[in-house]
Amino acid sequence: MYKNIKIINQNNEGEGIAKINNKVIFVPYTLKNDVVDLEIAKNNKKYDIGKLINIIISSEERRNVMCPYYYNCGGCNIMHQLYNYQLEFKKNKIINNLKHITNIDIDNIDIEYDDEYYYRNHITLSVKGNIIGFLKRNSNDIVDIDKCIISSKIINDKINEIKIFLNKYKDNNINKISIKSYKEILIEIESNKFSLKDEFIKYVKCDSLYLNNKLIYGKDKADIDFGKYKFKISNKSFFQKNTNIALKLYDYIKDNIDLNSNVLDLYCGIGSIGIYIANKAKSVIGVEIIDDAVKDAKNNAILNNINNIEFISGKVEDNISNINNIDTIIVDPPRVGINKKAINDIIKINPNKIIYVSCNSTTLARDINHLKEHYIIKKMKLFDMFPNTYHCESVCVLERR
Ligand SMILES: C[S@@+](CC[C@H](N)C(=O)[O-])C[C@H]1O[C@@H](n2cnc3c(N)ncnc32)[C@H](O)[C@@H]1O
Repeated sequence: MYKNIKIINQNNEGEGIAKINNKVIFVPYTLKNDVVDLEIAKNNKKYDIGKLINIIISSEERRNVMCPYYYNCGGCNIMHQLYNYQLEFKKNKIINNLKHITNIDIDNIDIEYDDEYYYRNHITLSVKGNIIGFLKRNSNDIVDIDKCIISSKIINDKINEIKIFLNKYKDNNINKISIKSYKEILIEIESNKFSLKDEFIKYVKCDSLYLNNKLIYGKDKADIDFGKYKFKISNKSFFQKNTNIALKLYDYIKDNIDLNSNVLDLYCGIGSIGIYIANKAKSVIGVEIIDDAVKDAKNNAILNNINNIEFISGKVEDNISNINNIDTIIVDPPRVGINKKAINDIIKINPNKIIYVSCNSTTLARDINHLKEHYIIKKMKLFDMFPNTYHCESVCVLERR
């Protein structure tokens, strides 16, 4: 065991950083200025993973956590950090990633935030017999939970109902359950052999029940109320996980759309961003890989009386090279960022503005590095979509040089 080790910083995943004999050690659950006793849990070539044994001096950033499962459960990672310091951590992480990867200096970034608890509208939990919860860090063991304080109150009610069902029917053969709480509740069960549908819906009230992406009860789509807009969403389509923050994020995008511009909304999901900004734009084209999501997007445009929008089903990288006369491109890619071919196509389309919505500052910085010869960062704002975790959403407004 190593004693009295000072934590000097925090890595991109919120773990404390220490140095022993010049080797970097990442120590989960520690914070800058903690002094701790630690053991080495895993040796790697470039860095080791430490295990916190004792806190000798506690960082000013530390707090007691409200969640009884936190130190076992792999769901959250920085709940032990006071919320204002979590926000600072996220700002610094993005500023540092941009500096290191693109050599672009950003002094300060504003961050929008809302409730730090009860915000998630969608979770997926693992199940074994009557045990339900997230997986323990780096393990396949399930941490049995009765509640999840970052998930919505409705999701917590559903966890209670599901637990009653699981306790009654331990031989349920369920592997995973995903719960989505919008205006309506959509539940999906993953199982190789599930035959307790009637029993399940007796205990768990929901509007839609899917088994392995096949509807077995209720409506095929769930209704979402989103500001003054209404969306319908299919089981496998993507929707933002924190509705309150998503509204602030969409407002920021809309503020940055020029009146009467032609907009391309790439990675558009169920068309929600394009529909949200459509009354400011002259035309909008959305592109999305999941065909069900594109069908949802087309229905959602009709549902919201938007008629200057169209959608293309397919990969962004396969579908935008022939598009031209675009003023603004919105991109909201998954964590892997934008495909290199798609970036080259975006540069060829040559829009005045690119509004990059990102959930991963490393791939954001990599992609901006590819764009920086042609575009400069005009504005940037962060949105704390996932409090108590190291994840952070950002919107970067780039303008043509
Ligand atoms: C972060 S979500 C954004 C969705 C939407 N913009 C929103 O605000 O709800 C990313 C979306 O990109 C889609 N996607 C992933 N890879 C893609 C690709 N290569 N081409 C097109 N869409 C893709 C996913 O299916 C998902 O709907």
